[in-house]
Amino acid sequence: MVERLFNNLIVVGQGYVGLPLAVNAAKSGYKVYGFDISSEKIQELKLGITNSPEITKNELLDLQKQKKIEFTTTIPNLSEKSIIVIAVPTPLNVERKPDLYMLNSACKLIAGVLVDQSLVVNESTSYIGTLRNLIKPTIESLSLAKNISYAVAPERIDPGNTKWGMHNTPRIIAGLDDLSMKQAVNFYSEFAGQIHTVSKPEVAEAAKLFENTFRQVNIALVNELSIVANMMDFSTHETIGAAATKPFGFMPFFPSIGVGGHCIPVDPGYLAFSAENAGVEARFINLANEVNSSMPAVVRARIKSYLNGDLNGKQIQIAGITYKPDISDIRESPALDLIKELKIAGAAVSWHDPFVKDYEGQQSVALTSEVDLGLIVTPHSQIDFSIWKKANVKVLDLSANSNNYGWPKFL
Ligand SMILES: NC(=O)c1ccc[n+]([C@@H]2O[C@H](COP(=O)([O-])OP(=O)(O)OC[C@H]3O[C@@H](n4cnc5c(N)ncnc54)[C@H](O)[C@@H]3O)[C@@H](O)[C@H]2O)c1
Repeated sequence: MVERLFNNLIVVGQGYVGLPLAVNAAKSGYKVYGFDISSEKIQELKLGITNSPEITKNELLDLQKQKKIEFTTTIPNLSEKSIIVIAVPTPLNVERKPDLYMLNSACKLIAGVLVDQSLVVNESTSYIGTLRNLIKPTIESLSLAKNISYAVAPERIDPGNTKWGMHNTPRIIAGLDDLSMKQAVNFYSEFAGQIHTVSKPEVAEAAKLFENTFRQVNIALVNELSIVANMMDFSTHETIGAAATKPFGFMPFFPSIGVGGHCIPVDPGYLAFSAENAGVEARFINLANEVNSSMPAVVRARIKSYLNGDLNGKQIQIAGITYKPDISDIRESPALDLIKELKIAGAAVSWHDPFVKDYEGQQSVALTSEVDLGLIVTPHSQIDFSIWKKANVKVLDLSANSNNYGWPKFL
């Protein structure tokens, strides 16, 4: 076994990315401090409550009981060198430009407690050059700590994915110098499946942005195919299935009402920002974003035409409003835009989602057969569609997922 270089770990941000890391490191034997500025989140974690599908209540309670992990709203002021991992949100602002308020504030808090010879790792997704040009200078302008190492190890977690997790997904790592790289590899090799080191942080940052941009662009392409297929009256899914029989050079993507979550609609904006700073217009990214963002309106128009051109007063129920099945995250969910579109067109929209209690004052209601139309948007595995089936409700399956719920795919 490789000798461990640090004993303490502080994870800044206890969300979908930070919490699984904190728990895995605590299980591997690090003394872990899970720090978050949200007192509500920390209170919940202390009670074992989390919306991270990978983590169980028992795990949280046991690790706390054994003092392997401590959840706190105050960044700990340790006397010993530590690893400090940044896992805070990096959204886009209203102009779709990076909003680095939380990343900046995390750096300032870290600077206040940094001890000589510590290692700072960034896991938050950000523009190319963030570690070198923002994190390091911000911390160093405020801290007197000496010999600090800096590395980047972008997280690729797909919350709710039971096949690919932290233990079998390769981790890309780069340090600002050889020592930083060595320390980061030493840490992640304890619980990451495979380590892939790259020559400099900019490559790791770019790889993270590019892999999610690849998805965004391909989803936009298949959404455009769906628009063409609808106009020309052939099936998109059958076409993709046929194209996918080619054993090389093709990868299937499926149409949907758009992209959601904190990654696919957001990360390409960071790549476009990097490109713009370098004097290049990211045409593909901007176009893909335009196509995907237009989908709720496109789908509303298609539903209207399916209902003989009139949505006014129609009772429509949506099954699942989170951005993907089996998780509770509604950030950037295109279902929310579809609801708005349908309401503006005069429909009376209700929704059922076992993971969301209420959204903007509207509550989740049980699936009902008393509707003019049911829409399968995010088919969580626990949703039982039998009530719609038994009552022969008119249903459109708008989901990108490959399961067949008994109704033909609409997109
Ligand atoms: N969610 C994903 O599937 C996913 C996957 C890979 C990478 N990422 C990236 O990881 C980063 C974190 O995303 P997330 O989904 O975990 O976000 P999240 O919203 O689930 O969690 C982030 C947490 O950070 C806390 N926070 C904000 N500012 C803070 C500060 N200054 N100090 C301490 N805590 C602070 C928030 O209260 C929140 O609890 C983002 O950059 C995201 O792009 C997310």
